[in-house]
Amino acid sequence: MGTKATRKAKKGETIYTAPAKINLSLKVLGKREDGYHNVDILMARLDLEDELIFRNSRTTAMACDTPGVPTDESNLVMKAAREFEKAYGRLTKQHMTLVKNVPHGAGLGGGSADAAVTLKACNELLGTNYTEEELHTMAAALGSDVPFFLNPVISRCTGRGEIVTPVPELAEWSSPIVLLKPQFGVSTPSAYKLLHGAHRIKGVTYNPQVVDGIKLVNELERAVFTKFPVLGFTKMWMLGRPGVRAALMSGSGSTLFALTETIEQARELAEAAKAELDPTLWTYCGYVNPQ
Ligand code: C5P
Repeated sequence: MGTKATRKAKKGETIYTAPAKINLSLKVLGKREDGYHNVDILMARLDLEDELIFRNSRTTAMACDTPGVPTDESNLVMKAAREFEKAYGRLTKQHMTLVKNVPHGAGLGGGSADAAVTLKACNELLGTNYTEEELHTMAAALGSDVPFFLNPVISRCTGRGEIVTPVPELAEWSSPIVLLKPQFGVSTPSAYKLLHGAHRIKGVTYNPQVVDGIKLVNELERAVFTKFPVLGFTKMWMLGRPGVRAALMSGSGSTLFALTETIEQARELAEAAKAELDPTLWTYCGYVNPQ
């Protein structure tokens, strides 16, 4: 961690990076008694990252470079620091500055990654030496996606998403990727709620797509596309572009991604999407599971 930060740490600062994720596959197995859904997810990190700058302080607090991001106790960074403090029995006395590159409400796990990195950073900086298992318990209490980010190697995530099993056969697999996100976001609880009463939109394919033996499918697409048909149409538009090997929604949306043969094709797709579909789209070109 911290090796790829784009800015240089000032004296007394330590910089950590928190990668975004995509769901290469997301299957919903059924609703549980606790209100969650059992899932079977294939999760991979991206080279798109937030940064978290830590420094010692008189109290535990945070700031963010992006206006509109809450920096109070509702932010997952603060929640993670508080979860850590429950075990630690003292204040972390860390000031955390979040440099936000991963959009919110996007299905890219930005908040979850920030939370996991906060736990790891506090463990390192305060020399507490909590075990992976202890960190996992704290992470799972913060959200279903948080444990994956403690060690973001390509993994199968089951249970409600918190049971993380690395997939060594895919450890060296990587692909160019392009992400498109409309201005609106989708909240995860609303996506799961929408599952009931969702239907298929004519002309949109939901079937698994196979890339290098990986079956890509997202069973939340049906629910989210019913409410936001534009996402279904954008997915189909992506599938018709040169070099696209697969196109899918990530997590509960609203980000759509396409795996391309080359990084140039990813860039061309992003340009074409802004020119032909919506000039206000947020786009990103890079690599999934960067080596
Ligand atoms: O665990 P997390 O805080 O990310 O979950 C947010 C909400 O998303 C849950 O309260 C639940 O409504 C929904 N969810 C679900 N099944 C999952 C994960 C999340 O129903 N496996």
